[in-house]
Amino acid sequence: MAGKITLTMIKPEAVRKGHIGAILAMLSEGGFRIVAMKYMKLSRETAEKFYEVHKEKPFYNDLTEFMSSGPIVAAILEKENAIEAYRGFIGTTNPADAAKGTVRNLFGSNIQENAVHGSDSDENALVEAGFFFSELERY
Ligand code: CMP
Repeated sequence: MAGKITLTMIKPEAVRKGHIGAILAMLSEGGFRIVAMKYMKLSRETAEKFYEVHKEKPFYNDLTEFMSSGPIVAAILEKENAIEAYRGFIGTTNPADAAKGTVRNLFGSNIQENAVHGSDSDENALVEAGFFFSELERY
């Protein structure tokens, strides 16, 4: 499925603010098909593992604390050219710069609490999808 999937998370602040339903509705209307989905809370250790590529970044500690601060929704989404399509759909990392009407523009609070995650490459999408879901959990 390379090229057709991306991994998203609805992050803890968006969950706390009650935006799960609105974000899932937007994804569906945007033509992203849900292949797999989980509502769960990441442990600090699991969040550290997921964001390991950012280990050396100054925001790594705060990010992993935040990502383990409450439940998230993790999902594999399918669409043609999924990575680029989803990145355009959610907007830039910093919600302050995100295009009007994108998920991060509508629901993001700041560069860290930016409502949703989206994979940044086909290769990472496969790794991230495998991080959360077995083949048996994908439909
Ligand atoms: P995400 O798409 O999940 O990928 C890495 C995350 O790190 C990003 O969204 C933000 O939540 C966070 N992040 C990226 N850059 C910064 C930054 N400069 N300061 C704080 N957090 C950041």
